[in-house]
Amino acid sequence: MSYENVAADVPLSAMEAYLEFLVSSGVDCCIDETPHDWFSEPATNKTTAVVSTPAPTPTPKVVRRAFKAEEAGHISADAKATAKAILQRQKQTVQQTQGSQSPQIAVLPDANAVTSARDTAFKAHSLEELRQSMLEFEGCNLRLTASNLVFGDGPAHAPIMFVGEAPGKEEDLSGVPFVGRSGQLLNLILKRAGIAREQVYIANVVPWRPPGNRTPTPQETEICRPFIQRQIELVDPKVLIFLGAASASALTGSRDGIRKLRGKWLTYKAGAFERDAMAMYHPAYLLRSPAEKKLVWRDILNVKNKLG
Ligand code: URA
Repeated sequence: MSYENVAADVPLSAMEAYLEFLVSSGVDCCIDETPHDWFSEPATNKTTAVVSTPAPTPTPKVVRRAFKAEEAGHISADAKATAKAILQRQKQTVQQTQGSQSPQIAVLPDANAVTSARDTAFKAHSLEELRQSMLEFEGCNLRLTASNLVFGDGPAHAPIMFVGEAPGKEEDLSGVPFVGRSGQLLNLILKRAGIAREQVYIANVVPWRPPGNRTPTPQETEICRPFIQRQIELVDPKVLIFLGAASASALTGSRDGIRKLRGKWLTYKAGAFERDAMAMYHPAYLLRSPAEKKLVWRDILNVKNKLG
């Protein structure tokens, strides 16, 4: 059955549910069986008649991925030509809509997005100001597929600050970090160590859920880093704990694996700001490897002793 037949027979609500399922499973671009320039379709086309809002244009990142795939021999030169046409069309659309009143998601090159994130983050003088500026920030595409910004949870100036990698499904739906299975295990570890969750502040390097819980790309991490750096400064904890290697590597630059990093005192540095820090196994890893819980137990007691 062709896609057009499906589009004609299936109710819109079912198609929307299916699209939602695809997006939440990590699908972030559409690939046709053969290269197809949708922009050259006449306006009366069947598909455009069914779907009233225009399909989102692929981001430059998607197009660049297409070029890379072509270089690696995964797609044909025809597909590359289509990608080029899409990019050209996208540039024109951005130029045409500049200054218009319609709400547009900014299409920024990654380097500009990082600079813009840095400028925005360091202008915030309180956690609430930072949260507001992150709500308005349009430089990270993850916000397009996420349900909520997952900013942080806990009292400002908590003595311990935990930093995870990125929110999962439950966190995305609630807007609160570490509320799913990993969070429940983290709560249990804290409780056993005599630390109330209310005594700690928790946030993530990337505050928007990547679709399908995929790993954030290096560019996404780079764009979000100024926000978590500013959040750490504003919380100003006595001790920082990186949950998992991704968080430790994003905030210390270390390329070591978590086995090597965990349990040792590290120094977190960002500009003039310095803090004692420790990397621990991520609770999601402990759910898969419960035998490693004893090492986290050792690490959390070590942190507790440091705080006195
Ligand atoms: N894993 C993370 O790294 N962060 C969350 O908020 C939830 C799960």
